[in-house]
Amino acid sequence: MRYPLWRIGVFLAACVAPVWWVYQAWLLALGPDPGKALVDLFGQGTLVLLLITLAMTPMQKLSGWPGWIAVRRQLGLWCFAYVVLHMSAYAVFILGLDWSQLGVELAKRPYIIVGSLAFLCLLALAVTSNRYSQRRLGARWKKLHRVVYAIVGLGLLHMFWIVRADLKQWAIYAMIGALLLMLRIPAIARRIPRLKGQKTPAVIKA
Ligand code: HEM
Repeated sequence: MRYPLWRIGVFLAACVAPVWWVYQAWLLALGPDPGKALVDLFGQGTLVLLLITLAMTPMQKLSGWPGWIAVRRQLGLWCFAYVVLHMSAYAVFILGLDWSQLGVELAKRPYIIVGSLAFLCLLALAVTSNRYSQRRLGARWKKLHRVVYAIVGLGLLHMFWIVRADLKQWAIYAMIGALLLMLRIPAIARRIPRLKGQKTPAVIKA
């Protein structure tokens, strides 16, 4: 395995945030509604991890260091784990596991449909993130994984719907997301000297 300490560091960093948030909720340090605060924190964590995962390829191209790519898959899987925590927290603390209320909830919070679409796309990427799927799908794997751009758009739309009254934080995520997507446009990538002509290593051996 290449870059073992770096990989372990990323793993631990990704573990720490949810454990810390749950601990804070347990201590009632997240305000009057710790359950809702946890839903929001896991939601924000999902979006941040999505953007960090997308940043790995440009970082590798700009710096030339393959370590960024070595943790890309792990970060993508963490993003999926965070969205599962986000949905679970919603089911427990907001829905109260009362599934009969789901229809009412969807009418009251239609942004959940947008979030669920993003979740389904993330699920498709998570189950095909292994080398077996990569080999089996061949060129289609790369095409499928371009759905990550749609996930960023859906995630941002989902958040926009919720925080419409105060868009400061959303605007920061949206600008970073737009920048990362723009860096993928070949005509723009060619203008950045270090991005020009560098190839991302196809597979970093685990
Ligand atoms: C990739 C998928 C998703 C992303 C990136 C995401 C992200 C977010 C973000 C950033 C927030 C706002 C946090 C804040 O107010 O500070 C949020 C809130 C919320 N999300 Fe998601 N989410 C996703 C999927 C889902 C799914 C599948 C559900 C369905 C259960 C869901 C339900 C909610 C709810 C109910 C809230 C609002 C909680 C409240 O403050 O009342 N999300 N999400």
